[in-house]
Amino acid sequence: MTQKRFANQTVIVTGAGEGIGYEVARQFCAEGASVLVNDILPERAKAAAKAIASETGADCIAAPGDVAEVETVRGLVAQAVDSFDGLDVCVCNAGLTSWGNFFAYKPADFERVVSVNLRGSYFLAQAAARQFRAAGSGGRIVLMSSVTGHRAVPYLSAYGMTKAALEMLARNLVLELSPHGITINCVAPGAVITPRNLNDDPDYEARWGNLIPVGKAIESADIANAVLFLAAPESEKITGQAIVVDGGWTSTSPIPDMGYGADYEN
Ligand SMILES: NC(=O)c1ccc[n+]([C@@H]2O[C@H](COP(=O)([O-])OP(=O)(O)OC[C@H]3O[C@@H](n4cnc5c(N)ncnc54)[C@H](O)[C@@H]3O)[C@@H](O)[C@H]2O)c1
Repeated sequence: MTQKRFANQTVIVTGAGEGIGYEVARQFCAEGASVLVNDILPERAKAAAKAIASETGADCIAAPGDVAEVETVRGLVAQAVDSFDGLDVCVCNAGLTSWGNFFAYKPADFERVVSVNLRGSYFLAQAAARQFRAAGSGGRIVLMSSVTGHRAVPYLSAYGMTKAALEMLARNLVLELSPHGITINCVAPGAVITPRNLNDDPDYEARWGNLIPVGKAIESADIANAVLFLAAPESEKITGQAIVVDGGWTSTSPIPDMGYGADYEN
């Protein structure tokens, strides 16, 4: 029998009670990893860990807490080491999508989105990197960015800024992490069909499908595929990069009606 891709590996995934993080945790478990499922909502973390463990048969445990708290993210790494004897992959997925008109955006909202998206990811990456360095076995860090870190989307100024910052963080840290065999990369999702997005807009899938060049909104599995790729042994020389998974959306720019179309080649 062939060994599963992530057998004997330990993975932390934040914000994994539902949505993209849940699918990332599920795919790692299906590939043999032991996974810590973090979520700010304890019941959601427990339910997710239980469902994933029963579906995959892997070790999957709940690790509730708010990633904005530095003690929480340090505790996640400590819990991984205590429970599974080490850490191999850290996925800083939790992020707060914070909508708001720039003219009215409140300092408290700014503090919160920066605390969750940046402080949470920065200090979790730091805690994971300290563990990887101490163990001397290298490691993988994946940060969850967004296409809004590449393109202007209305009313997402603070959120988009945090996502662009995460991509610079990955580029910067290649200097300090590469000597320890640690890679750090980002995945930048486009419009993903998640419970939160469907709750905000029941027509989400069709509306985005009409806009996106490939004709379909993105699925959490598409994002998880990219995360697992970056965490796999064959990606050891990919670091400081961002993989955009958006069905071509960021490659397009609106143009005026030029009066010609599909028949242009004629
Ligand atoms: N869904 C999308 O279309 C999309 C697009 C681009 C980027 N992203 C990014 O992908 C990541 C996951 O997105 P999603 O839409 O699946 O997330 P989501 O908003 O659905 O949240 C997923 C889980 O994270 C938990 N969570 C929220 N704040 C937390 C915190 N402070 N600490 C720990 N857990 C917390 C929530 O309780 C929830 O169960 C985020 O970083 C998001 O910015 C999502």
